[in-house]
Amino acid sequence: MPLIEIKDLIKRYDRNIAVDNINLKIQEGEIFGLLGPNGAGKSTTINMLCGLINPTSGEIIIDGLKISKKNTEYKRNLGLVPQQIAIYESLSAEENIQFFGKLAGLKGTLLKERITESLEFVGLLDKRKSVPKSFSGGMKRRLNIACAIMHHPKIIIMDEPTVGIDPQSRNHILQAIKKLNSLGSTIIYTSHYMEEIQALCSRIAIMDHGKLIAEGTTTELKNQVSSDKKIKINVRDVNYNSIEEIKAISGVTAVDYSGNSLEIITKLAQSLLQDILFILSKNQNTIIGLELLEPNLETVFLTLTGRKLRD
Ligand SMILES: Nc1ncnc2c1ncn2[C@@H]1O[C@H](COP(=O)(O)OP(=O)(O)O)[C@@H](O)[C@H]1O
Ligand SMILES: [Mg+2]
Repeated sequence: MPLIEIKDLIKRYDRNIAVDNINLKIQEGEIFGLLGPNGAGKSTTINMLCGLINPTSGEIIIDGLKISKKNTEYKRNLGLVPQQIAIYESLSAEENIQFFGKLAGLKGTLLKERITESLEFVGLLDKRKSVPKSFSGGMKRRLNIACAIMHHPKIIIMDEPTVGIDPQSRNHILQAIKKLNSLGSTIIYTSHYMEEIQALCSRIAIMDHGKLIAEGTTTELKNQVSSDKKIKINVRDVNYNSIEEIKAISGVTAVDYSGNSLEIITKLAQSLLQDILFILSKNQNTIIGLELLEPNLETVFLTLTGRKLRD
C-alpha cells in the first residue's frame, strides 16, 4: 500500500485549473520530487495534501485513510515547510520551535529536548536566543525547517525550500533532507531546480500547467527520451531567422536560445550538426563553442514541453 495516494485530484479557481486531474502514489521511505516551472501547480497540490485548501474534486489517501475535514489526525504525521517562510519574527528561534511543538501536542521535557535537537539539526543551536529579524534568508529557512520537523513527522513536505538563499544554507538543507530520509521520514520535495531534484530524489514527477507529464526514477525518465541528444552551441548574435530555420529542420524536437546558449534537442544529432552549423554561419552568427550532451532531466522537460525550465 502506498503511504500517500492522490486520485483524480482537481483544483479550479474560477476558469483557471491550477491542478488538472492528478494521480500519484508515493511509497514510504521515498524522497519524492515534484518538479515543475513556476505556476505548474506544485504548491496547490502540496497545500491540498496538507489540508490547507480543499480540492475541487478527487481524493487524497494518507496511510490508508481518506483526508477530510473530519479526519485531521493525519496532520500529526505531517511536517510542512511552506513556500512562504512562516515564522514569528518577534519570537526567538527557540520560542518559534516551542510554539510549533505545542501545536503538535508536545510538552515538558520532551518539548525541551526536541527544541534543542531540531536547532542542532539545522545548525542554529548557537542562535537559540536570537530573533529571526537578525537572520539571513537561509537561516530563516532553516528555522522554518526546524519548526516543521521537531515533532518527528512521518512525512516531511518541503515547498521550494532553497529558493533565494545562500549556498551554505542550501547545502545544509540538502544534507538535512538526506539525513531525515535516512532516519525514516518520507520526503516530498518540490522545486524548479532540476539539478537539486536529480541529486536528491529517488522518484520524480514532472508537472506543467497543472498536469503530471511524466513520472519515474531519473533513469526511467531519461530512458523516455534516451535517443534525444542535446546539441549545445555557444553562439553570439543569434537572430530570429537562424532559430526559425533550425526549428524547421526535420528531426529537430525543440530549440531554446538564451544568454548566448543555443540548445537543440534532436534524435539525429550527428547527421543534423552540419545543417545547423551551416544555418548559423550563413546568418553570420559567431560560434564560440559546441557540445553534444546526453539527456538529463532538462532534456526530458524540453522534449516533453518544447520549453526550457528556468527561473
Ligand atoms: N488562490 C488562488 N487563486 C487563483 N489562482 C491561483 C491561486 N493559487 C494558485 N493559483 C494559480 O494556480 C496555478 C498554480 O499555482 P501554484 O500551485 O502556486 O504553482 P507552483 O507552486 O508550481 O508555482 C497558477 O496559475 C496560479 O496563478
Ligand atoms: Mg509554488
